[in-house]
Amino acid sequence: MKVLGIESSCDECAAAVVEDGRKILSNVVNTQTVHAAYNGVVPEIASRTHTEWIYAVVQQALDGAGLGPGDIDGVAATSRPGLLGSLLVGLSFAKAFAWARGLPFIAVNHMLAHLYASRLEQAPVPYPFLGLLVSGGHSLICRVDDFDDITVLGTTVDDAAGEAFDKVSKHYGFGYPGGAAIDRLARSGDPEAFNFPLPNLHKGQHPYDLSYSGLKTAVINQLEQFRRRPAPVASPPSPPAGAAAGAGEGADIAASFQRAAVEILLRSLFRAAGDTGLGVVVAGGGVAANSYLRERLAARQDLRCVFPPLELCGDNGAMVAGIGCRYLARGERSPLTVTASARVEGFKRKYP
Ligand code: KG4
Ligand code: ZN
Repeated sequence: MKVLGIESSCDECAAAVVEDGRKILSNVVNTQTVHAAYNGVVPEIASRTHTEWIYAVVQQALDGAGLGPGDIDGVAATSRPGLLGSLLVGLSFAKAFAWARGLPFIAVNHMLAHLYASRLEQAPVPYPFLGLLVSGGHSLICRVDDFDDITVLGTTVDDAAGEAFDKVSKHYGFGYPGGAAIDRLARSGDPEAFNFPLPNLHKGQHPYDLSYSGLKTAVINQLEQFRRRPAPVASPPSPPAGAAAGAGEGADIAASFQRAAVEILLRSLFRAAGDTGLGVVVAGGGVAANSYLRERLAARQDLRCVFPPLELCGDNGAMVAGIGCRYLARGERSPLTVTASARVEGFKRKYP
C-alpha cells in the first residue's frame, strides 16, 4: 500500500510517499525560512506560504517516488494539533486529492505521527514502551501500547521544551530556529558555567509533569544582568548579534540552559521509567534531534533509547504517511468533513 502523507501543521510544508507503513519512497520537506526575519513563526505568513507551496511539494513527492497520482492507494494528512490556518491548507489539499481520485483518506494526529517516525526504515520497537514526545508546541511523557494508543503520564504545565529553546534563542539573538542554534552553540560552551534552577513540581500528584517557564525566566534575567554591567573598555571582537553576552558567555549560556532543559525532561522520564518498569524509551519531535539529549540517554545502561533518524525528528510527511498507512490498513477512514484543530486533545491521561 502506497500512501501519500501531507504535513503542514507549522512552518514545514511537507509531503512524502511511504510504502506499507515502513519504506520511505520519497520525503520532501520545505522549511519556510521567511520566519527567520521575525525570529518566530508568523501564523498568517505560514498559512499563505503553504498555499503557495503545497502543490509543488506534493508533485515533488510523487516525482521523487517515481509515481503518478494513479499509483497512490491512500492519502493521510495532519489535522491536529498545530496552527489552524496552516493545518487547513495541507488537510484541504489532501482531502481534495483523495476525493478527486476516489481514494481512502485519513486525518492523523501530529504527535502520534512524531512517535511513529521511529518505526520508519528501522526495526520497530515492540509495545509497550515509554514515549518522549518533544516539539515546539508539546512535551509529553507517555506509556505507548500501540501506534494509536498512548496514555499521557506527564506533560508541561506551561511552555513546551522546544518553545523554551526558541524563546531563549530569540532573547539572546542566537539564531532561528532556536533549538538547533542553541544545540550548535552549546558545543563550545561550559554546561556548568551557570546553575539555572530546575522546577520543583514533583511533590504533588503529577510526578512526571514538566515546567519550563522558571528556567526560561532565569536565563532571560541573566541577559538583563549582562546588559546592566558597564561596557568593557575594549569591546570583544564579535559578540553574537543582538546579544549583550560576550561570545564565550553566549556559548556558556547556551550550554548551561541546554543542560537544565534536558535535565527537566530526564528527571520526569527516568522517574516514569522506574515507576512503570518500562525499559525502552522511544523519542520523537523536533527536540529529539538535540545532541545533548541523545548523549545523555545513550549513556543510560538500564534504558534502551530509540530515536528517529535526525531528518525524521522535525516535521515531515513520511511520519504522516507511515501512521496513515497503519490506520488505512485497519480499514479506518476519516470523513471528508473532518476539520483541523489547534489542540492536541483526546489522549488518555493517567494520574498515578
Ligand atoms: O516537531 P517540530 O519540528 O515542530 C513542532 O511540532 O513544533 O519541533 C520544532 C521544535 C522547535 O522548537 C525547535 O527549536 C526544536 O524543535 N528543535 C530543537 C533542535 N532541533 C529542533 N531543540 C533542541 N535541539 C535541537 N537540535
Ligand atoms: Zn512537530
